[in-house]
Amino acid sequence: MQRLRFGIIGSGKISQYSAQSIVNHPRAELTAAQDINRKRAEQLASAFEIPHCFTEASELFACDEVDAVYIAVPNKYHAELSIAAMRAGKHVLLDKPFAMNAQEAEEVLRVSEETGQLFALGMNQRFNENSQKIKAVVQSGAFGEIYYAKAYWMRREGIPRLGTWFGSKALAGAGSIYDIGVHLLDLSLYLMDNFEPVSVFGSTYTKFGNRGLGESDWGLSDKTDSIFDVDDLAAAMIKLKNGATVCLETSWASHIPENERLNVELFGTDLGASVYPAKLYKRDPLDADYRTIENIAAKPGLPHCDRFHNFINHLFEDEPLIVSGEQALAVQRILDAIAESCRSGKSIDL
Ligand SMILES: NC(=O)c1ccc[n+]([C@@H]2O[C@H](COP(=O)([O-])OP(=O)(O)OC[C@H]3O[C@@H](n4cnc5c(N)ncnc54)[C@H](O)[C@@H]3O)[C@@H](O)[C@H]2O)c1
Repeated sequence: MQRLRFGIIGSGKISQYSAQSIVNHPRAELTAAQDINRKRAEQLASAFEIPHCFTEASELFACDEVDAVYIAVPNKYHAELSIAAMRAGKHVLLDKPFAMNAQEAEEVLRVSEETGQLFALGMNQRFNENSQKIKAVVQSGAFGEIYYAKAYWMRREGIPRLGTWFGSKALAGAGSIYDIGVHLLDLSLYLMDNFEPVSVFGSTYTKFGNRGLGESDWGLSDKTDSIFDVDDLAAAMIKLKNGATVCLETSWASHIPENERLNVELFGTDLGASVYPAKLYKRDPLDADYRTIENIAAKPGLPHCDRFHNFINHLFEDEPLIVSGEQALAVQRILDAIAESCRSGKSIDL
């Protein structure tokens, strides 16, 4: 295989950015685009000179000029389309969240094993240059023991367009926690190198979208109804096997002073850190002064800082896949436990 030929399933908002990342790689090209909305698939195909255009996913899966698919559709279809693609002999890069629940996610991993097709979840926050720099510092051992992470992505008015699939539990599975919370939960565990949760306590709230408030302009899907039955704020405490804790807060809409609050803060026995932007906090052993280091010398572990390039390089070369199936499954299990904890009002043991 000289070049990896990609097909895109779902030609909505995120696919416009993802298509650009794919064509930026010297050994990848886009050969097919699909969407149930033909006009949208045609627009993407025209913008990126993609030769084949389909409305049925099965037509794209049957196309001989496609080696791998990138899937970016409403969450309800993530597992079934990933499975159908692998059974048709295509490698799969799926956008987050993994699935509607851990059972679906397990089935996707089982089919990847059975068919031998590569499956990867595209968690783009791991590939941010700030994240990669902090990861390099973690790998140097400079933090000592990382015993706490505080992760938050709070928006003041950031609900994707009201009336689209994003607000429907049947199509999205959950709201802010599946859309943005999942990113920082995954990033925290990646930076701590700890995907072994033991218990989860979570709360979710629906206070803005159900009143028609807090809308932003993200998303291309059509407005189909006025259902909004997902969370627009969620909070969780996740206890890990080595005793470390992650505190996660996420909101699509809330009364906060800024438009957006977004960070992962790490607390180690020898060093503290912020990821966005990348900064380190430490006491200097020579003059006992407390320092904030803003120009971190560590180089990003992956110079390209791109999830698509990692997927392609992994297939062509020896670059390790950054998001493993087991890690993605662990994150899904935590998301399930947050929902279960909210239903029961109790802490959930995993
Ligand atoms: N990694 C990120 O930062 C990031 C950002 C945004 C969205 N996403 C994920 O990408 C996915 C798509 O989000 P979006 O923002 O592009 O949404 P969007 O609403 O803009 O686009 C979704 C597209 O999927 C199409 N579609 C619906 N059902 C389909 C089906 N069964 N088969 C094929 N196409 C179908 C719709 O017609 C629409 O064009 C979601 O899973 C979302 O969580 C990831």
